Amino acid sequence: MRISAQLETQLRELGAELRPGASLAEQTSLGIGGTTDEILLRRYETIPEIMRLLADAGVPCRFLGGGTNVLVDEGELSFVVLHLPAAGPGMRVEGNAAYVDAAADLGATVTFCAKHDLGGMEGLIGVPGSVGGALRMNAGAYGTQIGPHVREVELYRAASGEIETVRGSEIRFDYRHTSFAAEDLMLRVKLELPSQPFKEILAGIKVCNEKRRSSQPLNQKSAGCIFKNPPGRSAGRMIDELGLKGHRVGDAMVSDRHANFFVNAGEASGADMLKLIDLVRERVRDAYGIELENEVIVWRN
Ligand code: EPU
Repeated sequence: MRISAQLETQLRELGAELRPGASLAEQTSLGIGGTTDEILLRRYETIPEIMRLLADAGVPCRFLGGGTNVLVDEGELSFVVLHLPAAGPGMRVEGNAAYVDAAADLGATVTFCAKHDLGGMEGLIGVPGSVGGALRMNAGAYGTQIGPHVREVELYRAASGEIETVRGSEIRFDYRHTSFAAEDLMLRVKLELPSQPFKEILAGIKVCNEKRRSSQPLNQKSAGCIFKNPPGRSAGRMIDELGLKGHRVGDAMVSDRHANFFVNAGEASGADMLKLIDLVRERVRDAYGIELENEVIVWRN
């Protein structure tokens, strides 16, 4: 979607930067996605005004975080993409509190906190993506989730159209799901983390990295796990048991390493990936009577 020259001027006056015709394939870990105008939100305080401008102009928009858990349609997209540019590390520590920008890289945040002798997030080390994305979906791995460490979140709240700060206790963090609205934009978070010596945290980080390396296709283009695990079950194990590892629709392929990772093994299209997702969901439904729910977020045109 292309925005008008007039709107572009107004956005620039509000400190936003426009990237016309940005490629989402280049900005997502799956390497799939069409093109659209991208707006970089360089000044948080102008976000409410920018959102009002876009709404008044009838321009639909989506927020892109690290692009590591999203499957985007192809072609010229029917919405613009808003993005928080990462400027500097965007993190600082005060006692047991870490103040982190939502645009910061999650893994870098875990390491930064570790260097300040703050632990508790080792399990999240290899989870790709931004802190904002991790917050929105309550990212987790190896027994750690980000939610329990959250004390405060500063966000643009779509319902009020304003920037607000909410306490961690007011947010519901469930398995790969939170009470944030899809249109809310995470801006900053305050985490509270237990004190732990750097060496100990590092040892925990190494264990998690090893586990991940041995079971996940880290060097291939993917969006992590495609499906959520149904209660008490592993989607990956079920898909594996059905002999679907390596199964392809075009270049979209069920990883031969971890069956809940679907990889772009070449030039996969969004349609290929969606067909593969539907096919696997159907096979699991037929065999186990379980309806798998997407973990990956699908942006259809
Ligand atoms: N398994 C298989 N075959 C496979 C994959 C897994 O038999 O192809 C078996 C494993 O051997 C193990 C069990 O299934 O006995 C569970 O596997 P794993 O430990 O890999 O965990 P998972 O349930 O498949 C979850 C998260 C991952 C996270 C790991 C580690 C979900 C959907 N997935 O995977 O998160 O990294 O645990 O904590 O909750 C993600 O969310 O994108 C993601 C990768």
